[in-house]
Parts: sequence; structure tokens; C-alpha cells
Amino acid sequence: MRTSTFLSVAAALTSSVSATVYQGFNYGSTFTDNTAKTQADFEAEFTAAKNLVGTSGAFTSARLYTMIQGNTVSDPIQAIPAAIKEKTSLLLGIWASGGQAGVTNEIAALTAAITNYGTDFTDLVVGLSVGSEDLYRVSVTGLINDPTGVGADPTTLVEYITQVKTAIKGTALANVPIGHVDTWNSWTNSSNNAVIDAIDWLGVDEYPYFQNTVSNSIDSAYDLFWEAYNATAAAGGGKPVWITETGWPISGKTENLGVPSLANAKTFWDEIGCASAFGKVNTWWYVLQDAAPTTPVPSFGLLGSTTSDATLGTQQPLYDLSCANVSLPASLLSSPSTATTSGATATRTGSTSGTQTTPGSAGSTGTGTGSGSGTSGTSSSQSVSPSTKANGASTVAASSMFLACALFAGAALF
Ligand SMILES: *[C@@H]1O[C@H](CO)[C@@H](O)[C@H](O)[C@H]1NC(C)=O
Ligand SMILES: *[C@@H]1O[C@H](CO)[C@@H](O)[C@H](O)[C@H]1NC(C)=O
Ligand SMILES: *[C@@H]1O[C@H](CO)[C@@H](O)[C@H](O)[C@H]1NC(C)=O
Repeated sequence: MRTSTFLSVAAALTSSVSATVYQGFNYGSTFTDNTAKTQADFEAEFTAAKNLVGTSGAFTSARLYTMIQGNTVSDPIQAIPAAIKEKTSLLLGIWASGGQAGVTNEIAALTAAITNYGTDFTDLVVGLSVGSEDLYRVSVTGLINDPTGVGADPTTLVEYITQVKTAIKGTALANVPIGHVDTWNSWTNSSNNAVIDAIDWLGVDEYPYFQNTVSNSIDSAYDLFWEAYNATAAAGGGKPVWITETGWPISGKTENLGVPSLANAKTFWDEIGCASAFGKVNTWWYVLQDAAPTTPVPSFGLLGSTTSDATLGTQQPLYDLSCANVSLPASLLSSPSTATTSGATATRTGSTSGTQTTPGSAGSTGTGTGSGSGTSGTSSSQSVSPSTKANGASTVAASSMFLACALFAGAALF
């Protein structure tokens, strides 16, 4: 049992190393005041990502939460023509917590985009996620962190996945890998296995900062991160696991031992991004810039908060993003987490994980620059999630945006 678990983890890692490895950011569809991002706004973001000082043009992929242009019923999101212009690859998202009507509109936007933009669009698509943290929002922890959270249960998600597959059959996106994005402890909850069976890849949102029920100082972040990744890979039984959101905030509330700061955000970038994930696992970081005009708390933006496309174009990162001379500290290099297999197995046993909250995705409505914002809601005790908001669809209230994903566990994962 342990052996097969281990092999499946190894298989998942191997398969994500073999092909092109994508690297990019998450992009919401609206600003925190609910105005919709336009094509020009997306172009400014995609350009800023490619020109991000210190990163040598590596950030050329965009993960979206919705197919729908903000404040429309079912128009294709203007991130698509922006991506075509900027040659930015796309991890598409269908917002799946807006009920059947919302998903029907998402599918209408998807099919309209295929028709309107043709292969200029479809050639850029690296994957399509049906849903974002929908299972987390209706989990025990999700509801503790946000009792008003709206999600979707596994049966409903599988139905939506089937609808999306039917909609793309016979189109240029017929072979696009279909996935779902959720928190790691949603993936390890076997009640959700039907979703895993229905998809080609698992997207995992991981924020050790929010794992406030375990020892989650920045010094533990590397191990917490990879334990959660490995647990997801084991649950996935060999299907690839993509890192769809991760990051460490520069400011905001302290979550147990997780302290937001520039220094800690840089350490997280160096250890998780530079030294281990970038170039090896498809990764969409959270986040290029904070949502605006209201800066979210906590703040995850590499560029801080920007207020206009022009400012964005000249913004310097808040800390050094160069991976050139980055290597893992000796303490991590010698730890089982980077060791070979046998050591790794040993570590996992007994690991705990705690609550991880994700900034994640938020709510339903859409949003933001990704980040979610702090705008609404939040009563602060919950761990807020910066996350993302998604879609512009109207359905849910913007205020439910914070997700926090707490992933807990306690139980040995392997
Ligand atoms: C496990 O998943 C099911 C189905 O999504 C959910 O109802 C349940 O609350 C989850 N369990 C926990 C402990 O979150
Ligand atoms: C990396 O280290 C070398 C040798 O110390 C130095 O010359 C170079 O400027 C460094 N590169 C960066 C991007 O910091
Ligand atoms: C995760 O799995 C990889 C591959 O098996 C292993 O090398 C690594 O040590 C594991 N990390 C942790 C923290 O368990």
C-alpha cells in the first residue's frame, strides 16, 4: 500500500516533468470595486508578467477563474484576445459554484470563444479547470472559515465536467486536459474521489501561511508545501498535479507562526518557486499584483497594489525575484523532503498537516485581480483568503470571497 502510494507520487512528478512546464500567475476578472477588467487591463498584466524584473520572461501563462467577461451574461472574457496578442498561454477556468445557470453561461462563453477566435485561441490553451475550490467551500473547514461560502458537491461537479466535455467534443479543444482546482485536503478526502475519476489532472492551491493549526513558520513552509503536494499526488493515483495557486503574503495578519513579511515572502519564493517548483511542475503563482483599488489583507502581490495599467508597466517587484543564485538552505537539502525516495517515505509518515487556508478562490463573483479582496466580508477571525474571485458572474455575493482553505488533517497522510 505504501509502496504503491509512493509509486503514484513518483509517477505524478515524472509526468509533470516530461512535457513543457508552464509558469504563470492567477488573474481575476474584475477589480475590487466590481468593475470588469478589459482587454487593455489584461494586456497590461500579461506584459508586466513577461517583463517582471529578475524573472527572464518566464511568466508567460495565465490561469483564469471564469470564461465570462465581467459584468456580462456570457460574453467570452477579454483575457482571451489579450493572451492572443501577448502570446500568453491559458489555463482556462469554468466557475462552477454559480449553479447550473452559471455553468451554462460559462459553457456558452467557452464555445463562443472557440468560434470567434479559432486556433489563435485554442493553440494557447494548456488546460481547463471545471471549478475552483468548490469542494473546499462546502467542506467542514471551509464552512467554519466562511459559513456563507457557496461551493459544489462532488456529484454536481462531475455533472458539470461531463457537460464541458460534451461541449468541447468535436472542437479544437476536444483534447484539452480537463481538471479541477481545490485545496489539498479536499483532494485527500475520499468522499470527493468521483471528481478525481472524472478529470485528467488535479490542480492544488497551497498556502502554508494559512495552515494555522500546525507549526507553520516560514522555516516549515517548504516541508508543509511538499507534504501537501505529495498527499494530493497520492490521492490522484498518478494523474498530474499542477500547482494552481501558492504564495506567501508580505503583509497582513499573523496566522499562528505564519508571519507575513517581505523577507518571508522572498524565502517562500526562493524555496518553493526557484529551488523546487519552477521548471519542474506547472505553477501559477498567487499573485502578480494585488487587486485594486482596495488592497487585500493579507497582501500577496509581487508588485504590491497598482492603480493603473500605466503604473503596472513600470512597477518594480517588492523583493528580488531572481532565481539565479538561489539554492535550498543546507538544512532543507539534508532533510528528507529533498532526499531520495526512501527518506521521503519516512517523512511522510507521521506528517501532519494542518490547516491550510488558502487564499483562494473566492467566491463567486468575480473578481479581482486575483486577489481577492479584502473587501468584503471577512470577519476576521477566519483566515482569509486572498483569493481569487472568480467570475464575474453575478451569482454569488461578492462578499463571500474569502475562502480560506484550511486543510487539516492530523491524520497521517500516507
Ligand atoms: C469530505 O467531502 C465531502 C463531500 O465533498 C464533504 O461533505 C465533507 O464535509 C468533507 N469532509 C470534511 C472533513 O471536510
Ligand atoms: C550570482 O552570483 C554571482 C557570483 O557571486 C554574481 O556575480 C552574480 O551577479 C549573481 N547573480 C545575481 C542575479 O544575483
Ligand atoms: C514528496 O515526494 C517526493 C517524491 O517522492 C520526495 O522526494 C519528497 O521528499 C517528498 N516530500 C515530502 C515533504 O514528503
